[in-house]
Amino acid sequence: MSRTPFIAGNWKMHKTIAAAEAYVAGLLPLVGDVDGIDLALCVPFTALQAVVDSTRGSSVQVYAQNMHWADHGAYTGEISAAMLNELDVHGTLLGHSERRELFGETDRALQQKVPAALAAGLKPMLCVGESEEEREAGETERKLRHQVQEALEKVPVDRLPDVTIAYEPIWAIGTGKVATPEQAQEACGFVRALVAGFDEAAAEQVRVLYGGSVKPENAAELLALPDIDGALVGGASLEPASFAAIVDAVRS
Ligand code: PGA
Repeated sequence: MSRTPFIAGNWKMHKTIAAAEAYVAGLLPLVGDVDGIDLALCVPFTALQAVVDSTRGSSVQVYAQNMHWADHGAYTGEISAAMLNELDVHGTLLGHSERRELFGETDRALQQKVPAALAAGLKPMLCVGESEEEREAGETERKLRHQVQEALEKVPVDRLPDVTIAYEPIWAIGTGKVATPEQAQEACGFVRALVAGFDEAAAEQVRVLYGGSVKPENAAELLALPDIDGALVGGASLEPASFAAIVDAVRS
């Protein structure tokens, strides 16, 4: 089963509308027509409309960085799937470790968010990963098992292939400390095996990405690994040139 490689840039809390438009204007000529690779930008809410408009007709998909599970309600500061749909975005990150660690995102909330995104026609990209202490204590698999099983529990089996899972070891995010190819492959293979626990065929189709200090220099090696179908890129996605260099590394 061949899975289409997926490269996603996560801007986090960077870029005003003006900066986002300048970025897209710089990126599109660099990446050109991207054939056989899915490309996405995960953009702050305020710049979503501008990036949807400026990437229309290109191969760049646009993702939000978070979403509430309810259609509407008394949830101050939150954004619903219907609100994202109105902007024509393709999908949304869910459960990024910064949301989990800094803003109290729980596996229980994700259990509602992932199916809510799918039901609304949005592609969820679920982020999972262990902390340095958990890895050192030999608890990586226990953590991943809990995160994946909780978050996918209410996803209809026929929709599982529409979920992308990004394995991002917390100790590798923004630290320059990239996981070794062995560590990345082992964890992404384990994530795929967890999906197989729900449905074997879906596990063959679901895309598992690696994230954590992905750079133009290490992207090709990571993406060549059997269970790694792409990359979720933070810091190196902030400049069009380095993001395009990652796309090029994967292309060749
Ligand atoms: P990084 O971030 O590439 O800067 O390590 C990855 C992420 O947080 O998604």
